[in-house]
Amino acid sequence: MGAETGEPYADRELHELRELASSAGFIVGGSLWSTRRRIDPALYLGSGKVDELKQQVAAAGAARVLFDNALSPAQQRNLENALGVPVWDRTALILEIFARRARSAEGKLQVELARLRHAATRLVRGWTHLERQQGGIGLRGGPGEKQIELDRRMLEDKIKQLQIRLRKLERQRGTQRRARARGGQLRVSIVGYTNAGKSTLFNGLTRAQAYAADQLFATLDTTTRRVYLAPACFAVISDTVGFIRELPHSLVEAFKATLDEALEADVLLHVVDLSNPQRDAQIEQVNTVLADIGAKDVPQILVYNKIDRLDAPVPYSQRYAAHAGGQGRDSIVSFDVSALTGAGIDALRAHLAELALRQLAEFERGTMHEPPPNHNA
Ligand code: GTP
Repeated sequence: MGAETGEPYADRELHELRELASSAGFIVGGSLWSTRRRIDPALYLGSGKVDELKQQVAAAGAARVLFDNALSPAQQRNLENALGVPVWDRTALILEIFARRARSAEGKLQVELARLRHAATRLVRGWTHLERQQGGIGLRGGPGEKQIELDRRMLEDKIKQLQIRLRKLERQRGTQRRARARGGQLRVSIVGYTNAGKSTLFNGLTRAQAYAADQLFATLDTTTRRVYLAPACFAVISDTVGFIRELPHSLVEAFKATLDEALEADVLLHVVDLSNPQRDAQIEQVNTVLADIGAKDVPQILVYNKIDRLDAPVPYSQRYAAHAGGQGRDSIVSFDVSALTGAGIDALRAHLAELALRQLAEFERGTMHEPPPNHNA
């Protein structure tokens, strides 16, 4: 089912929600678009739309309803009662995607932390709502309020414990990063919109020469690997979490440590799904998050992926690089690849080898010019 209004906006938003849903492992059984000016405080939608949705849920045998927008705890509860299936909003869906993707201990902790923070904000909102029902802010002592206060404290304790564990992991990660940086090796971080093919590219780049795996990195997060590029030429490549439009702030915060890999990289491989008509908007979204974390000025290589899905090549005039002059990126290096079939990967690898060799030469020049120890003593 598509957008009923036929508006391009609706098409785009629904298309993305469908993609997010399949990223989370769901099969989409239908969709509904509503253009209400006034949002119903109890149900978000009007009762007519809720009935329509209920029929669709029954017809598709749907096990869950996903909303593209944020829902208040009350709206979510009421909708669940009315529809008889769990209802998730956009943040819950994104949290699920991240939970499925989290591979490292750190990633899992970050997702858990983001979940708890999300739950905590909803608890507070629910509480304010309860207070209002009981006769105004400031009135204390209802049994519901006590329970909520206990829940809130429990959440806060858990959040604190998680933060301590995360900080410990972050310190380890920092030490490992510094160890890697010392060798003058090229650090490459793969970024890109969710589903662009980052992990596939990561595997494609790293699997080819698995023997190059080095014991030194055995303790690293599995999403960071040392990659053979050419004789005596290696790079350290890390995969990052997906970037998504309107990424909830709590998630950016929670994943900051992982995203810091991008911040400290020498070069970013910005993976773009060339077969997606929304690719330029997705590039912009990724650049916005990169700017948020302070990685705006890290050099980027655009990796246009999924070329195997195209019927015809996409001309340069229809590429982001062709109209991004005003964005401060004068010369955008780009490669067309298929991470799935391996097409174009050799050219990308050769370019990375060139960068890595240049960086190594600079590093060696730098160490040669370093004064010997105690030179000035
Ligand atoms: P997130 O972890 O959600 O951010 O996704 P990702 O960017 O890591 O994408 P991933 O590598 O998981 O790929 C997403 C989907 O696209 C998978 O079904 C891949 O098999 C598919 N895919 C990746 N690269 C290609 C490609 O070059 N061609 C085709 N046809 N499919 C691809």
